[in-house]
Amino acid sequence: MARSDVVPHLYVIFGATGDLTHRKLLPALYNLMQRRDIAENCYILGTARSDLSDADFRQEARASLSDAGFSDDDLGSWCDHRLFYHSLGPDSDDFPGLKDRIDAIEQEHDLPGNRVFYLSVPPQVYPSTIEALGEAGLDSSPGWTRVVIEKPFGHDLESARDLNALTHRYFDESQVYRIDHYLGKETVQNLLVFRFANALFETDWNRDQIERVEITVAEDLGIGTRAGYYDRAGALRDMVQNHIAQLFTLIAMEPPTCFEADAIRQEKIKVLESTTPLDPFEDVVFGQYAAGRVDGEEVPGYRNEEDVAPNSRTETYVALRLEVANWRWQGVPFYVRTGKRMAETLTQIAIVFNRAPVSIFRNNGTPDLESNVLLITLKPDEGFDLHFEVKAPGQPFDLKKQQLSFRYNEAFGRMPEAYETLLLDTIVGDQTLFVHADEAEMSWKLFAPVLDQHVAVYPYEAGSWGPEATRKLNETWVAGGNALSGSQQRIARETA
Ligand code: BG6
Repeated sequence: MARSDVVPHLYVIFGATGDLTHRKLLPALYNLMQRRDIAENCYILGTARSDLSDADFRQEARASLSDAGFSDDDLGSWCDHRLFYHSLGPDSDDFPGLKDRIDAIEQEHDLPGNRVFYLSVPPQVYPSTIEALGEAGLDSSPGWTRVVIEKPFGHDLESARDLNALTHRYFDESQVYRIDHYLGKETVQNLLVFRFANALFETDWNRDQIERVEITVAEDLGIGTRAGYYDRAGALRDMVQNHIAQLFTLIAMEPPTCFEADAIRQEKIKVLESTTPLDPFEDVVFGQYAAGRVDGEEVPGYRNEEDVAPNSRTETYVALRLEVANWRWQGVPFYVRTGKRMAETLTQIAIVFNRAPVSIFRNNGTPDLESNVLLITLKPDEGFDLHFEVKAPGQPFDLKKQQLSFRYNEAFGRMPEAYETLLLDTIVGDQTLFVHADEAEMSWKLFAPVLDQHVAVYPYEAGSWGPEATRKLNETWVAGGNALSGSQQRIARETA
């Protein structure tokens, strides 16, 4: 059944020859259309500098959809009917021609002028693309017009403000969809359901019950062939300002008045506003991977990666201590770490509860009780684990850690791709999972000052859990790690 809130439209993708378009956007749109979430007369117009014909673009799209695992008989005819291509020319400036082409497709297919413009282009050309759209009169249409902007949104507070101001010159905030693909992940959205549909946890979700929160986003991959982008960005811009800020605000936010875009985004902004400014030398550890072994293979250090300068100081690892100065969280540290070439790929949030105030089992060999921990795993094995103590059967009297577990794939099977969810939202006009202008700016305001300081960048061995210096923030990390207490290591192993 086609969704009734999906109306005929044209999806225009800038950067249509790029990796994101072929790996994520086309498969997501194809899947949406095949599952008939999207009404019959919806079309995609790819645009880029390259001089391709419609037929060339359709052939490329078909190849990438096959690579993505689609093998339907009607794949070819879908491409032939749904896809179009317009070259913007070597200087990417043929916006008048683009407008004519859009008008022609809309006329031919009887479309009412509903348009999404998706900017899947390098961030440095966001401003010129937005301006050219506006100046060509493509900022409005007989139907609705929406513009989707990929991350990174700016590279510091000033550039994010400039980009917001430019965007708002042509588009109202209600037309702007700033993408952070973490918000499209089911498990990330589920943080809201988990917190606000289950009173059981919400009553404990505060400084009275929680000792600390840890957020780990570790990747075993290096930077691959992305040095051109990554060496200028670094881990703080690439992961912390956006993806981790989302996880952090969803964990820390107050209950919104309802499940609607403005209500949720307002609460997330308040968390960022309440977060104490970071002291770059006390609250932050930067690292950069050196050569090491990952999955049994020797891998080069960051400075020996293709196109990385041998003296690059770009951080491939960041650990932070954040504090939210409000009634709920005052005094509860939020430890965050993310890095490339770490021991494993693991995205996990650990809610570490207060220990029992005293151990009545002290005379039975357990002088100290450990914290209960709620582990929320987003990758690789989406689900939750609540760790608690039980009595080990028999004698001598002993306590043993056990867990209650929930795994998404066991309960529900296939999870939709994040991009599928987000693209559908851009079509139905739901901004709940997109970043508000103020949110993007507040996040830069919090994190960007660290980049202005000469923070030491510690080397760490590829395949490890990051630099030793991280211990100065948090001696023991619950998820994975080289600095865990015995039972915490057990938690991490049992959960893996
Ligand atoms: C991207 C970053 O936004 O997110 C990459 O640019 C990172 O460096 C990726 O690898 C991680 O996304 P996910 O969904 O694999 O956790």
